[in-house]
Amino acid sequence: MQDLEHDNSVDMWNKYYASKRGNSIFEKAVHLARKKYFKGTFAETVIKLSGKSTSYLETGAGTAQTLDYICKKTGARCVGVEKTPRAYEIGKNIAKECEIILGDALKLPLPNKSVETSYSLGLFEHFSKEEQKKFLSEQARVTKKTVIIEVPTRSPHMITIMWFNRNIRKLKGVWADDELFTKSYFKNKFPKLKFKYHLSVSSLFMTCWFVLKPEDIELFLRENHFPRS
Ligand SMILES: C[S@@+](CC[C@H](N)C(=O)[O-])C[C@H]1O[C@@H](n2cnc3c(N)ncnc32)[C@H](O)[C@@H]1O
Repeated sequence: MQDLEHDNSVDMWNKYYASKRGNSIFEKAVHLARKKYFKGTFAETVIKLSGKSTSYLETGAGTAQTLDYICKKTGARCVGVEKTPRAYEIGKNIAKECEIILGDALKLPLPNKSVETSYSLGLFEHFSKEEQKKFLSEQARVTKKTVIIEVPTRSPHMITIMWFNRNIRKLKGVWADDELFTKSYFKNKFPKLKFKYHLSVSSLFMTCWFVLKPEDIELFLRENHFPRS
């Protein structure tokens, strides 16, 4: 298991969105790639993995570019929850047809079973294991059909980027101490939790996806005596 201390503070995220961490060139390049390429490829993957869906929730929606793309492409009801004020403000401006809420993934401000598909992109890896269970519990509570989790994959280039940012650029937080995943790593971390695995070629082997059913998450949490949300 990876044993890094994760910085998931609002302060870290505010600096990231303002490109004010260390030398800002890296962040600017990431934001540009997000806008020009990844928002489309992520949105298409969510649509493919969810099947037909009349509503989507993105938890940790960031600048909500992917949510906006999904909303325009599918016409579905789209809701984003985001905890960092700077990202929330940018997201509200970008995704004008979506409902963007300032809120916490670990205490979602949404009723039970109020969306068909919930997904997160680049969020799960920033939580501790206990927070990840709470996150799963909240995703299962609000979702009727499909929960999708996208995380960075444990590929040589991702290991190198994280190492470089952590050890040479002395960064903490996103792109530095992210937990990196493989299929077997997820399976070992959450034994007996059922999921489907998808490795994304279009995201240049930087990310992988776990697709779960809310009832399987609930069963897993019950069997592990995790308190109900
Ligand atoms: C790597 S960013 C990804 C943003 C967006 N999903 C995207 O793909 O561009 C992770 C986001 O999760 C947000 N976040 C972190 N912890 C959160 C929490 N507990 N509740 C809601 N959002 C959170 C951060 O503020 C950040 O905007």
